[in-house]
Amino acid sequence: MKRIVWLALLVLAFGSLGMAQKFRTFPEIKKSGKILIGTEGAFKPFNYFDDENHLKGFDIDIGNAIAKQLGLEPEWKAHAWDTMLIALNQGRFDFVIASHTITPERAKAVDFSKPYYCTGNVIVSKPGGPKTPADLKGKVIGAQLGTTFEEFAKQFDPKQIKTYQTNPDALQDLLMGRIDAWITDQFTALEAVKSRNLNLQISDLLNTEKIGMAVAKGNSLLLAAINKALDDIQSNGVYEQISMKWFGKDIRCK
Ligand code: ARG
Repeated sequence: MKRIVWLALLVLAFGSLGMAQKFRTFPEIKKSGKILIGTEGAFKPFNYFDDENHLKGFDIDIGNAIAKQLGLEPEWKAHAWDTMLIALNQGRFDFVIASHTITPERAKAVDFSKPYYCTGNVIVSKPGGPKTPADLKGKVIGAQLGTTFEEFAKQFDPKQIKTYQTNPDALQDLLMGRIDAWITDQFTALEAVKSRNLNLQISDLLNTEKIGMAVAKGNSLLLAAINKALDDIQSNGVYEQISMKWFGKDIRCK
């Protein structure tokens, strides 16, 4: 009998441990005056470190504008891409803005905001290299590990998909001739090629993806506040100004 009681207690204790909420609710965040924002820092022009080691980019400006709209001071934390959503659920930051595509798979683990922009994938290669999806058959494709780019590459019947911790790593291997093609975001591709004046070709846009901010699973008050703040900056001109600054156009989803 005693044993059964102990067992029940154990199950209860561990059960509630597992259930314990590891996030700060919006009222708790408000009280602290600070909001912790996670991003990667290697996805130019969305989130990257400049020469003085400061976080810059569209994601950073939007994150700061959201914080300001909420009356909170932003505190940024850079985190590796492939474990960022896990860290989010562990309470390492209040929300994440790192150009995550909203996918059904990820939406099982975290809660996404309304999309804050829309974009799509392209193929980048050396002149004479793959330019269309059909060209990718039997080729070696490079993509950042754990991205929609990696997933997207699978359908083209490549010889191999090589994965990289960051997008710049994949670009480096393309330039070294270790991969035939790099699949990435259209804006990231354009930025890399233009800013470094690289002799690379960029394909047409291959798909459309909706990009969202993420909060820990179940953090519904914070999610509602973020969605409201996004609505606000999209109607008061702040969003448009930030988008124009980085892209010369408004990249919100149509
Ligand atoms: N949108 C793509 C995805 O969600 C790529 C995002 C990459 N972001 C980054 N910070 N490296 O998989």
